[in-house]
Amino acid sequence: MKPDTSTTQLLEQLRDQLRHYNYQYYVLDDPQVPDAEYDRLFQQLKKLEDENPELITPESPTQRVGAQPLAAFTQVRHEMPMLSLDNAFSADDMQAFEKRLRDRLKLSEEIPLEFACEPKLDGIAVSLLYENGLLIRGATRGDGSTGEDITLNVRTIPSIPLRLMGDDYPERLEVRGEIYMPRRGFERLNDQALKRGDKPFVNPRNAAAGSLRQLDPKITAQRSLEMCCYSVGVVSGAELPDTHEAILRKLATWGLRINAEMAIVEGAEGCLDYFDRLSAKRNQLAYEIDGIVFKVNAIELQQQLGFVSRAPRWAIAHKFPAQEEITVVNAIEFQVGRTGAITPVARLEPVFVGGVTVSNATLHNMDEVERLGVRAGDSVIIRRAGDVIPQVVSVVLERRPATTVSVQLPERCPVCDAEIVRVESEAVARCSGGLSCAAQRKEALKHYVSRKAMDIDGLGEKLIDALVEKELVHSPADLYRLHHRQLASMERMGDKSATKLLQSIENSKSTELANFIYALGIREVGEATARTLAVHFGSIEAVMAASDEQLQAAPDVGPVVAKYIVSFFHQVHNREVIEALRSAGVHWQDVEVDVKSLPLAGQTWVLTGTLEQMPRTEAKKQLLALGAKVAGSVSKNTDCVVAGPGAGSKLQKAEELDIPVLDETQFLARLAEYNG
Ligand code: IVH
Repeated sequence: MKPDTSTTQLLEQLRDQLRHYNYQYYVLDDPQVPDAEYDRLFQQLKKLEDENPELITPESPTQRVGAQPLAAFTQVRHEMPMLSLDNAFSADDMQAFEKRLRDRLKLSEEIPLEFACEPKLDGIAVSLLYENGLLIRGATRGDGSTGEDITLNVRTIPSIPLRLMGDDYPERLEVRGEIYMPRRGFERLNDQALKRGDKPFVNPRNAAAGSLRQLDPKITAQRSLEMCCYSVGVVSGAELPDTHEAILRKLATWGLRINAEMAIVEGAEGCLDYFDRLSAKRNQLAYEIDGIVFKVNAIELQQQLGFVSRAPRWAIAHKFPAQEEITVVNAIEFQVGRTGAITPVARLEPVFVGGVTVSNATLHNMDEVERLGVRAGDSVIIRRAGDVIPQVVSVVLERRPATTVSVQLPERCPVCDAEIVRVESEAVARCSGGLSCAAQRKEALKHYVSRKAMDIDGLGEKLIDALVEKELVHSPADLYRLHHRQLASMERMGDKSATKLLQSIENSKSTELANFIYALGIREVGEATARTLAVHFGSIEAVMAASDEQLQAAPDVGPVVAKYIVSFFHQVHNREVIEALRSAGVHWQDVEVDVKSLPLAGQTWVLTGTLEQMPRTEAKKQLLALGAKVAGSVSKNTDCVVAGPGAGSKLQKAEELDIPVLDETQFLARLAEYNG
């Protein structure tokens, strides 16, 4: 059947509409219709094209992803070379840049010199060639003269139009810009890689490059890539405006994406202001940038200035301090934390990165050491972005010296020589020395004196380290036995500071139960949990005596925390420390919870059968919170049985013993009553 004109019209109408929505979504970042509407139109177009395959055009929105992978990329010679940029690293460099321009242009001081400012995107430079408005070729920059043909891959990028909008575009138009991977797409890609056990990409630029280098465009299509246009190459068949800014704005009217941060400023001062503004915004941008590009705005001036070797005289890239640097790992050491966690740390040859000098980087745990494959002696890439702690990104294997050996988790604690244990399901290895390990003691003391714990002012890290090393302090209780003489003789301490410190140790004796529980440093018991425990149990004795089950009855206490609490108080040493602290005079007001006044105090309940409206664990938790014990079998001591459908022998026994039985509805009503 011959397709009629109305089919052709409908096809074009659908394509135009989809292009328009796509433009709003990907180029303007301003979607106007829900995704579902876009999908519906897309499916409609697809169906119509399936029915009329002879009417499919290469620029149809359905034709972004090609069917066949390539065998290899072919080479493309750039008609106009793709240039690079000179760099500036300081305000002085920028002032010198403006001076060079003014001298060459013989511009007198009163005449302002306008610059277009754009973020320097950290991606891959590409060239797009449009003929009669249709995208016919995409190529990488390569060495500037010859790149690779990546047409099939660029076609999959939604912010790149397959057909230009409007009708005033040049017959031939080469557009240049940067293809990059936004941060979110990069994180998603790496999450997926880690889940599959694959090596993650080092940074978004490598991820963008890797995604464009795919021979199968289907893979590129799955990656989140965007393009921002920053200049034109070959143009024929139409005149373009006479400033850089106006040219970019023109590109935007044809459906090409340009950077929303572009601005026009005057002179080096204006450039430096813009640099400061963008630096402050840098971490909030959806993509990574490594500097700002400044270009003389007037095209005529650009032409007068021309080029030197491979870079234009009229543009410069003012780079941010590098966020990645290469340095050498001098050693890999193991640190012991408060809970005994053993953390591998890379000791680095100091390196200036992200604006600070870095000489240590945590390697987190042995899984990370293995993932990186890092060894002492290796050259590594260190990254410090924003305020994030410095990270070892990867090892530069080509630079590995011949004699390195792989890192092993030590068998014994480097501080106390106790055995190091690693629970199979956990990434963290721990020293089993507990508080007999000096490192753990130091950390435990630092925690004990911290502001939210016992708030002992004037007892800094260095002093604690020294007190532990001199064996003057073993446990927190020893703090209360320190003499003025001992303190005053410590390094950097004098008579006055010793007196002040003793006073603040004395003051800490009067505390609150929640602070005291927190100060004990039980694993996973932070400030909030400590407060919960204080309110729920009312006294340290009650917390110490609580069973796993009773602990879990406290709000927000789950099985893991309950286990840590039980095991903490199980250790004789910890009980002794608490006793010693109390004898030293540490005291607090117990919190009023009269357990005997709880509605079900002293009662024993049994749950049997299936509960349909409340999980059994929750029912149990609520009963415990009301003061009841929950038992597994019915006896004459049972006070009440809750029986759901399917209850068997326990229900029978209850009836025999004449014990009250509630069904689930009655039970829930009773709970509601008690909980007021
Ligand atoms: S203009 C003749 N503008 O930086 C001017 N380049 O070091 C050519 N880049 O290869 C480039 N953002 O990949 C320009 N807004 C921007 C840019 C930018 C990133 C890259 C581009 C180029 C490299 C030069």
